[in-house]
Amino acid sequence: MIRIATIGTSVITESFIGAATRTSGIEVAAVTSRDIGRARAYADRVGVPGAFGDLASMLADPAIDAVYVGSPNSVHRDQVAAAIDAGKHVLVEKPAVSSAAEWDDLVARARAAEVVLIEAMRTAYDPGLAAVQELVPSLGTLRRASFHYSKRSSRYGAVLAGEVPNIFDPAMGGGALADLGVYGLHAAILLFGEPARVEAAVTPIRTGVEGAGIALLDYAGLVVDVAYSKITTSTRPSKIQGEDATLVIDHLASPRHLTRVDTDGNVTERVIDGPVDVLDGEVARFVELVSGGASPEVDQERTAATLRTIERARAAAR
Ligand SMILES: NC(=O)c1ccc[n+]([C@@H]2O[C@H](COP(=O)([O-])OP(=O)(O)OC[C@H]3O[C@@H](n4cnc5c(N)ncnc54)[C@H](OP(=O)(O)O)[C@@H]3O)[C@@H](O)[C@H]2O)c1
Repeated sequence: MIRIATIGTSVITESFIGAATRTSGIEVAAVTSRDIGRARAYADRVGVPGAFGDLASMLADPAIDAVYVGSPNSVHRDQVAAAIDAGKHVLVEKPAVSSAAEWDDLVARARAAEVVLIEAMRTAYDPGLAAVQELVPSLGTLRRASFHYSKRSSRYGAVLAGEVPNIFDPAMGGGALADLGVYGLHAAILLFGEPARVEAAVTPIRTGVEGAGIALLDYAGLVVDVAYSKITTSTRPSKIQGEDATLVIDHLASPRHLTRVDTDGNVTERVIDGPVDVLDGEVARFVELVSGGASPEVDQERTAATLRTIERARAAAR
């Protein structure tokens, strides 16, 4: 049984705890907050026995085998490094860190410490994306894809009121590319590999981050646009177009309704049961890796390629 402690007391950590509770082989032993009162109240509310009021005490506890990092992006690197140094396995929220170089360094440290480190990129472990991956070869030679994830953030109202919530704060690693664009980029890399060329444009907002944008991934023969926004909402589906058929994907981050339309107009549908936006797949993969059932190298390399692509998109948009 893997005894994991969480970091962060927001909604995403609660989603993680829910997924871990539904997954065998792992139990949430404790939560961690920067404030012990908040940690205790959160632990009681979500039904977790332990509570820590600082990172160092949690990492010093030999009863903790692994750590889930659900803090703002800019603090991931130091928290992950400290957890690895303490000999803990780590599952870190997306985007894992702010650069590919940081990630490569953490991966090397994790290897040396013989612990597992992967990014909590739920899309990569979602049964819906596995179904997409299965259908892609039936589309013929791939030529175009459009991936979309645009959802106005509940915290954008605070930005309009003059505040700077973490997720829109450049100092906290915020911005729509890192927060939502990362899903489309990660999915593109999983399905098509790392692009040969990256172009990009962004919509800057008052806080200094991009509120929305688009990255164009050129695969020499296949062009993929990845659109994202945290300041507007779109219900536009994502699409993968091959010379023989097009696949329409209802919800990129967790596909549940896939429609394949061939060049003669024949339509076949695939429905994937289950709720959207759940973390069960990533938790199951983490348990498999920590239990020694597979190597994390593929997962780690996909994160590295995604971080390299984010850096290229940022440079192209400048
Ligand atoms: N996979 C998904 O579907 C999904 C969804 C949403 C977010 N995320 C990811 O989850 C992470 C957290 O996002 P969020 O929007 O929940 O962040 P957040 O609300 O800004 O912060 C999360 C938690 O981190 C702690 N925290 C806040 N500011 C901090 C600081 N300056 N230094 C250290 N700890 C701090 C807080 O816990 P305490 O005050 O109790 O210490 C807070 O509850 C991000 O990496 C984000 O990309 C993933």
